[in-house]
Amino acid sequence: MTRKYVVIKPLIAGNWKMYKTSQEGVKLVGTIKAGVHSVDDCDIVICPPFTLLSTINPLLDGTRIALGAQNMYVEKEGAFTGEISPLMLKDLGCRYVILGHSERRQYFGETDSLINKKVIAALTFSLIPIVCVGETLPERESGKAKETVKAQAEGALAGLSAEQFEKLIVAYEPVWAIGTGKTASSGEAQEMHEWIRALLAERAGKEIAAKIRILYGGSVKPENISGIMAQPDVNGALVGGACLKAESFIQIIRGAKKKELTC
Ligand code: 13P
Repeated sequence: MTRKYVVIKPLIAGNWKMYKTSQEGVKLVGTIKAGVHSVDDCDIVICPPFTLLSTINPLLDGTRIALGAQNMYVEKEGAFTGEISPLMLKDLGCRYVILGHSERRQYFGETDSLINKKVIAALTFSLIPIVCVGETLPERESGKAKETVKAQAEGALAGLSAEQFEKLIVAYEPVWAIGTGKTASSGEAQEMHEWIRALLAERAGKEIAAKIRILYGGSVKPENISGIMAQPDVNGALVGGACLKAESFIQIIRGAKKKELTC
């Protein structure tokens, strides 16, 4: 069966995780800016730690680079010591927020139900959520990868309207590929992305699902970006380690071209 794929402008997002002091962050942004100023065929997002958002926001004025955060809480304000609200992220110039990253699930006990509340809160405040899903190695080895991703996606995206689906981004990040140097093969990535798009279609309809960006994350590097991007259901990448060096992040952005595809 032939399937016509909608070509979506690729998006490359850099998740800085808990790296970079203010001085290091400013330097990194300066080099990235210089390296991508002529790129117009790819959307670019950087997600520094909370501590750097207010410093970096003005540095992105007049550039094509958008600002994102790595997490947030669900309330607008309140007695929630140590938390950051969607309103605060908007106030600091964020357009995107990563939610449900596997490190949040693994180290901070985030559940699908909390992530779902966060997704709804982000959308309410016009932040674009980048909702992460992905299986662990034991889950993949026991043949439960798709089942796991389905439960995560259905849990995190419960109760959303079709309109809300149109505004979000999903990131497939197999946990065994994060920071390990092991990337899912292009075929493994495509198989899971196609599965995720089918799940999205069940909920939001085929037409909307075809337009939702599904990013791949897990040891993305300049050397593997074009193979990953060549997969029809891959619309970009969520990059960890390789976004901490300007040169590799720039090369990934330049390598993220997408061609018209009919498969
Ligand atoms: P690495 O690119 O370091 O594997 O990290 C991926 C990731 O977790 C991005 O959110």
